[in-house]
Amino acid sequence: MPDRYAVMGHPIAHSKSPFIHRRFAAETGEPVAYEAIHVEPGDFRTAVERFRAAGGCGLNVTIPFKEEAYALAGRRSERADRAGSVNTLWFEGTEVCGDNTDGFGLVRDLTRNLAIDIEARSVLLLGAGGAARGVVGPLLDGLPQRLVIANRTMSRAVDLARHFANQGPVSAVALGALAAEPFDMVVNATAASLAGDLPPLPPGTLRTGGVAYDTAYAAQPTPFVRWGEAQGAAVATDGLGMLVEQAAEAFRIWRRMEPRTRSVIDALRAHLAS
Ligand code: ATR
Repeated sequence: MPDRYAVMGHPIAHSKSPFIHRRFAAETGEPVAYEAIHVEPGDFRTAVERFRAAGGCGLNVTIPFKEEAYALAGRRSERADRAGSVNTLWFEGTEVCGDNTDGFGLVRDLTRNLAIDIEARSVLLLGAGGAARGVVGPLLDGLPQRLVIANRTMSRAVDLARHFANQGPVSAVALGALAAEPFDMVVNATAASLAGDLPPLPPGTLRTGGVAYDTAYAAQPTPFVRWGEAQGAAVATDGLGMLVEQAAEAFRIWRRMEPRTRSVIDALRAHLAS
């Protein structure tokens, strides 16, 4: 019998996690079965307990349960505490353990797959919700020259910057007050792409030859990726690589084995296109 893993979310039908983890299992030869489980809001804790009682070994958690997973985990990694949310759960004895691999996934995709250095670069982060919070710490670990958080609702950007103030050169600005100022890198962690929207950005926000990274992904280039291309970005990409890298880190936590990701990123891109 393979070891059971799953992703829980609402909605979950379009999750790419089963596709990714089944490929990791095939590539590493690990006896892993992976499914997607739809959970109604309010039922998360019960669903986790049911999965565990049925012999489940570990879970990925997606929208809208990452904060609940954080509260549920009795033992949490430092990365989870920094992010304030958990996307990876596993069970040790009676304990539920939690980690957050999202920010790791972003930085791994940037630095290893795309060969982009964060050190000494000016970085603009768009958004101040859960997705943004998950990547602030790992971005600061890359030692940017500065990290500016811009959000439609200014107060959320201020709160987020304040939360990370002792961890690096981070500041906040209202999205609408962004001056035309060329950043080396712009990371979109707003929910705008999911609605087919583009956050309002003045011309000149990204320097020519810079990097535009959308944490969302889609079969077609997102509005933000198109915006990056129009600004003359050297790299304008969606977050499909981040998705695969965060999954690989979860797989490593569960199986103590690092799967190769390049071929899975390519396969997932082809799968999306079809
Ligand atoms: P998530 O956990 O995905 O980050 P969230 O906590 O609801 O979800 O946060 C969504 C983020 O996207 C917020 O930063 C939101 O801005 P507000 O805080 O002002 O609501 C941002 N956002 C959503 N739609 C947007 C849009 N069309 N333009 C700009 N920002 C948008």
